[in-house]
Amino acid sequence: MASLKHLLGIGGLNPVTVTNLLDLAESYVLLNRSGKTQRDSLRGRTLINLFFEDSTRTRTSFELAGRRLGADVVNMSVSTSSVTKGETLLDTAATLNAMNCDLLVVRHNRSGAPALLAEKVSAAVINAGDGTHEHPTQALLDALTMRRHKGRISGLTVAICGDIAHSRVARSNILLLTMMGNFVRLIGPPTLLPGNIGINGVEIFHSMEEGLKGADIVMALRLQKERMSSGLVPSSREFFTYYGLDRRKLAYAKPDALVMHPGPMNRGVEIDSDIADDDARSLIKEQVEMGVAVRMAVLDTLARSSEA
Ligand code: NCD
Repeated sequence: MASLKHLLGIGGLNPVTVTNLLDLAESYVLLNRSGKTQRDSLRGRTLINLFFEDSTRTRTSFELAGRRLGADVVNMSVSTSSVTKGETLLDTAATLNAMNCDLLVVRHNRSGAPALLAEKVSAAVINAGDGTHEHPTQALLDALTMRRHKGRISGLTVAICGDIAHSRVARSNILLLTMMGNFVRLIGPPTLLPGNIGINGVEIFHSMEEGLKGADIVMALRLQKERMSSGLVPSSREFFTYYGLDRRKLAYAKPDALVMHPGPMNRGVEIDSDIADDDARSLIKEQVEMGVAVRMAVLDTLARSSEA
């Protein structure tokens, strides 16, 4: 695999790199399921989880992935760090360099923060979500989940529904899915859709009935109110009526369409519990499992390219 120094976004990958990462992750799924979870490819390496935004799922997933490969894992969250005392991102970078960290996982509410750190630290930087920009490991784990169930990650029709405008998950998924030759439909009210996508293979819809027609995968997204400058939806109840994924709306998609959600879910707003908890249709729990395997593949790949 061509040497990959950092993982800042799907924008920096190509179809071969994506396929190699998914194949490696697939082998980790099998190993994790076999119960042989301890390996030592990252023995002696230090991974720092630097989270400037709250996270349960993503931070735990990176922590588990690092530990399963034998790395020393340290979690730094904003509330315990000197950032709240006014330290700049670049001072933080200097501190991290002095600690000789090998892998730095960063989540930040500003788009571009991981890229800025990557210029200043000696560690390999992994973007774990930056503002409304990208969340590359989420798109990779979503792709792995789709590939396992549909047997391929090309030629699929994937509908992404809800708050697309504020979603780094949607952005990374759009980039990955179109790069691999899938068709993406974005469905939501005009206030929650980006003005100009300009990417081949992406279509915009304002009606679930029209947008879901022929979809193989339906992905629901949370209303990311913390990123909205003003109320962009009249009410959660009204949103659910028009865009909330329930059994009635899911019937517009293909009969074997599967449902995904990156979490955290707001039940009764963007997704109905009846669908979210239906193991025959919902891949939501499996997405979490795939998250650990994909992050192991990413950490392993970056650590090996730093040796090269
Ligand atoms: C997403 C995120 O943080 O962007 N969550 C996640 O990583 N699982 C989606 C969200 O916050 O809605």
